[in-house]
Amino acid sequence: MGHRFATIAAHAGKISDQAGQPVTSPISLSTTYLLRGPGEQEEHAYSRVSNPSRDALEHSLAALEGGSSASVFSSGCAAMHAALQLLRPGDRLVACGDIYGGTYRLTEQLVKPMGVEVAWVDMCDLAAVEAAIDERCKMVWIETPTNPLLRVFDIEAVSALARASGAWTVVDSTFATPMLQRPLEMGADLVVHSMSKYLNGHSDVVAGVVVSQSDELAQRLRFIQRAGGAVPSPFDCYLVARGVKTLPIRMARHCENAQALAEWLRTQDGVAAVHYPGLPGHPEHALAARQMSSFGGMVSFELAGGSRSAGTVLERVRLFSLAESLGGVESLIGQPALMSHASMPKEVREAQGIRGGLIRLSVGLEDIEDLREDLEQALLAS
Ligand SMILES: Cc1ncc(COP(=O)(O)O)c(C=O)c1O
Repeated sequence: MGHRFATIAAHAGKISDQAGQPVTSPISLSTTYLLRGPGEQEEHAYSRVSNPSRDALEHSLAALEGGSSASVFSSGCAAMHAALQLLRPGDRLVACGDIYGGTYRLTEQLVKPMGVEVAWVDMCDLAAVEAAIDERCKMVWIETPTNPLLRVFDIEAVSALARASGAWTVVDSTFATPMLQRPLEMGADLVVHSMSKYLNGHSDVVAGVVVSQSDELAQRLRFIQRAGGAVPSPFDCYLVARGVKTLPIRMARHCENAQALAEWLRTQDGVAAVHYPGLPGHPEHALAARQMSSFGGMVSFELAGGSRSAGTVLERVRLFSLAESLGGVESLIGQPALMSHASMPKEVREAQGIRGGLIRLSVGLEDIEDLREDLEQALLAS
C-alpha cells in the first residue's frame, strides 16, 4: 500500500523491516565492501558509487517527490551542476531570469563556457517562454518560488511547452520542498533541491538532490554522480534523513509564521512592498494557491528608505540572525543584493528588482510574537 507524505517522511532513511534490525538508519562509514571475487557485483563495492546510508536517503527522497529515483550530491550547486551536465555543446538552455545568484553564476560561468547557449526569460510571460524554446533547446529551468523575490511560475504550463519541443523541464523546488509542491506530478522531468535548506532543516548540512521522473534520466544522473564523484558523506546523509522525518510539522509552522509576518509587514510604515505568495495582492497568488499546498517560509520586503534603511534593520535585529542560507529552525535575515545575489552583475540584479532596500527573511519556528516584536523594534529605527 502506498503511504501518504507524512508517513513516508517519518520513515525516511529506514533500511529494514526485519526483526532485530535498527529502527533508524545506521551511519555506514566504510568506504569499501568485501567482494566474493574480483569483478563480482555486490550490492555495494565502493562508497562513491553507493553506500547504505545514502541509498536509504535517496529512496525516501524519490518516494517523497513521487519520482523513479533520486541522486544526492555534496551541495545544492553540485546537484544543479549534475542536472546541467545532461546538456551538450550546441544545446540551448532556457532559464528563468529571477533565480538564485549561485545558479546564475553556475550557468553563466561553468555551463555557458562549455558551449551551451543560455536564454534568460521571464517565466511569467508564457509567450516569451514559447518563443525562446527552439529546436536546439534541450532544457527549461524553473526556480519556483524564486529566491529572493518569491515569484511563482506555472510548472504545468512551462513543462507542457518544453515537452512539445522535446526539451526537459527541471524545477528547483528548494523553497517549496516536496511537502508544498510536486513538480513531477505537474509534468516536470527533474526536481532539484538544495537539501542544505528545509529538507535537512537544521543549518548543519550542505547537500543537494536531483529526483528523476524517468528511468532513463535517473540512469544518466547516477552515472554523473558516480563519475563526477560529488557525493555527500554518510554522516550528512544520516542527518538529512533525520531532518526529513520532521519536515511536515516544520513546514506547517514555517508557513504559518511566514504568513503572519508577511501580513503584519504589509501594514508597517516604511515598508514599500512585501513579497509573499500567500498574500492576496501577490501577482501569482492564484497560481501559487493552485500549484502549492501552502506558501512557504520565505518572505522578502522592500524598504522605502533603500539600502541605508535595510542596513539599519540588519544591525538592529536581535532574534533574527544576520546570515546566509535559509530553511533552518531559527529565523535568518539578509540583504540579497549584498549576500545571496552578490555574484549576479548589478545591472542584471536591479533589472530583476533586487535592490539595496530588499530584505529577505527565512522565517523560523520561534514564537510569532517574538519575531514580530524583534522586527518592529528594528523597523522603528530604520
Ligand atoms: C533556490 C536555491 N537553489 C540552490 C541553492 C544552492 O544550494 P547549496 O548552497 O546547497 O549549494 C540555493 C542556495 O541558497 C538556493 O537558495
